[in-house]
Amino acid sequence: MILAPLAGITNLPFRLVCRRGGAGLVWAEMISSKALHFQDRRTKDMTVFHGEEHPVAAQIFGRDPFEMAEAARFVQDRGADIVDINMGCPVKKILKSGSGVQLMREPELARSIVGEVVRAVQLPVTVKFRLGWSDEEINFLPLGRVFQSEGAAGLVLHPRTRMQGFTGAARWEAIAELAKAVRIPVIGSGDVSDGEEAARMLTSTGCAGVMVGRGALGKPWIFETMHAYIKGSKVGNSGSFRPELVQMHIQLLLEHLPGRRSVGHLRKHLAWYSKGFAGGSALRREINGLLEPLEIVKAAEDFFQFPA
Ligand SMILES: Cc1cc2nc3c(=O)[nH]c(=O)nc-3n(C[C@H](O)[C@H](O)[C@H](O)COP(=O)(O)O)c2cc1C
Repeated sequence: MILAPLAGITNLPFRLVCRRGGAGLVWAEMISSKALHFQDRRTKDMTVFHGEEHPVAAQIFGRDPFEMAEAARFVQDRGADIVDINMGCPVKKILKSGSGVQLMREPELARSIVGEVVRAVQLPVTVKFRLGWSDEEINFLPLGRVFQSEGAAGLVLHPRTRMQGFTGAARWEAIAELAKAVRIPVIGSGDVSDGEEAARMLTSTGCAGVMVGRGALGKPWIFETMHAYIKGSKVGNSGSFRPELVQMHIQLLLEHLPGRRSVGHLRKHLAWYSKGFAGGSALRREINGLLEPLEIVKAAEDFFQFPA
């Protein structure tokens, strides 16, 4: 049960909270190999890992095999346990730079990046990719085999095309096809948000791990719930609210993002945590008007009535 990489979200505080919520492996948000090459401080800050979050995968993106190898060595030195290569991001800015899912259209370059990264580090290297660019250009199977022969230790498939973005259903049958086609572990990503779905993805695809992204927002305890469900526990499918995890998350955001840097994250996560609560929309309106982190925390404490 694995936390998916989510840009702007799976930073250190959220990864620690998800570990505490039962995630067996957490994925850090993608980082630019070019920015690391130019010693960008904010990007370097994104490669700080905490003793309690291991195992953690660091995901790098870029299109220059040598910069990617350099970035891989950097995250290895910083203590990551896995280096993951992003070949799935469909965001315009990333595509313009020629990276993300664009690399699936340049199989020779994609192969060379995986080979260079594998040779650069001792860590296991994985690739996270999609079905292909469009329904007319589906190439995850041949690419997956190529990455395996270049030494990739595992693959993560988000079974949608670039053209689909995040729309339509994730085509889990493709995860099953990939798992059959390669010897290395395949992790499935897409549309899992409760125990029943996690169990179904495992059994219907034969994948080695289930990755959860959007389903963990406001529910970092979902990983434990999914484990319990799969082990046959009858207690619920989507888990119940864990105030101590919300409190821990707030504290970690305040500690790791000093000054007003925590404000956006506090607003975002408290909005997710308060979903479904009576009065949740009033809380969201209130905190959107507050500029000081401690004022937002006070509003959240009044709302959730955390136990002392
Ligand atoms: C806000 C957001 C940010 C994402 N950022 C990344 C990223 O940095 N790297 C990546 O490989 N995938 C990224 N993804 C894709 C997810 O990791 C995942 O594959 C996808 O959301 C499908 O899984 P889900 O249905 O569990 O969310 C992102 C998705 C969302 C919604």
